[in-house]
Amino acid sequence: RKAKMVLDKSYIIAQVDNRIYGSFIEHLGRAVYGGIYEPNHPEADKHGFRKDVMELVKGLQVPIIRYPGGNMVSGYNWEDGVGPKEDRPRRLELAWQTIETNQFGLNEFVEWSKKVNAEVMMAVNLGTRGMDAARNLIEYTNHPGGTYWSEQRKSHGYKNPHAIKTWCLGNEMDGPWQIGQKTPYEYGRIAKETGKVMKLVDPDIELVACGSSNTSMPSFPEYEATTLDIAYEEIDYISLHQYYGNNSNDTANYLAKSLDMDHFIHTVTSTCDYIKAKHRSKKTIHLSFDEWNVWYHSREQDKKINHWQIAPPQLEDVYNFEDALLVGSILITFLNHADRVKMACMAQLVNVIAPIMTENNGRAWKQTIYYPYMYTSKYGRGHSIKPILSSPRYDSKDFTDVPYIDSAAVFNEEKEELVIFIVNKNVHDSIYLSTDIRSFEGYAVVEHVVLEHENLKAVNTSTGEEVRPHKSGASILNDGLLETRLTKASWNMIRIQ
Ligand code: AHR
Repeated sequence: RKAKMVLDKSYIIAQVDNRIYGSFIEHLGRAVYGGIYEPNHPEADKHGFRKDVMELVKGLQVPIIRYPGGNMVSGYNWEDGVGPKEDRPRRLELAWQTIETNQFGLNEFVEWSKKVNAEVMMAVNLGTRGMDAARNLIEYTNHPGGTYWSEQRKSHGYKNPHAIKTWCLGNEMDGPWQIGQKTPYEYGRIAKETGKVMKLVDPDIELVACGSSNTSMPSFPEYEATTLDIAYEEIDYISLHQYYGNNSNDTANYLAKSLDMDHFIHTVTSTCDYIKAKHRSKKTIHLSFDEWNVWYHSREQDKKINHWQIAPPQLEDVYNFEDALLVGSILITFLNHADRVKMACMAQLVNVIAPIMTENNGRAWKQTIYYPYMYTSKYGRGHSIKPILSSPRYDSKDFTDVPYIDSAAVFNEEKEELVIFIVNKNVHDSIYLSTDIRSFEGYAVVEHVVLEHENLKAVNTSTGEEVRPHKSGASILNDGLLETRLTKASWNMIRIQ
């Protein structure tokens, strides 16, 4: 089984926006309480932030983190989470049916994000609230001083504005599960007016409008079209969300789902450009894929969790090896759409459908999906290069002509480094790939990292990393031809300098 590829320095798709390696922390399950914040943990710092968790987050080099939801934001009063902790109210958190203590809020999140070197992507509540709460919130976070809300911030110990640049106008407003669900027209109107008022407070911000919650929503892609038609001039990005699973235990079909994501991106891009043409606008709307991941392992066990607990273990998917392959393919898909996908958030970051898990009062550990995320984030920075790939193909239950190989390449001019990311979806056989990289004259292979495992269902735990990468991949570079053996069902990263 053989495949061929050409990578040429001049086939540039776009500069990669590093924010495609973003993530997400929602007040949900043990993401905040018992995840990033656990004041009684031996690893907690003076703020109550777990240092062991911060180290694992830093390892991923996450440039931007979305907060505080998710479904939760549609019922959230941001004011509950600021000011003296003893005065903060306990509330019913309706989206996930828990008790929210508000011991962690906006200022703590900004503080924590700085410590992990990430920017904040803040969402406003367009479910139970609207323009008024949004304009107050941005006055609190971004206005220098001398007004009610900016002085409140100062009195809470933050003299300088937080200067939050990226804002989400609500969350999944098309979903019947969403508190305050909206028709496309209702949402378009509230997004436009809220965006307008927020930009009056701070014209330097960037706004992300909701698109559809996933491709199966009956109003997809009309929801996007109507929202864009109404709010085109106020917004900067449209949001995409998608989760995948392997409920039917059909690995070939499961691994092909990156094609669905590719198609989703094409459709939303076309919808944006159709409205651009309709408006005779010069402005291009970019894509923020601000929720994506595998999510299905924990769905049954979550039904058994009693309501109104503080930080119950919700959405705690334990990921296996094949999930890591799909995650690797999804990141490859983003790189190949670097011209339009400018932000993306793996949902989520800690404990809740996450690459990082913790035990209450115990260890923090890495799931299988941590590794493709870490390597792509760390080395996938520079110009995305278009791979001209010819790969053997297969058919699966829902897809035809699926290339066995997914690949993306990034050229980092500063480091003079070419990095190739490849997934072999063939679970039975190795594939031999010949890549013509003659335009990278004088380069040599630095490392070939491989994530592979005999058992597609192998998982990591708090005590053992069954699935972890090794650096003994088989790649030889001679006269501009890179010969690589891609072992069956493997994720690969080849660095060439
Ligand atoms: O990430 C988990 C949930 O998935 C989010 O709260 C919501 O936006 C989506 O449906």
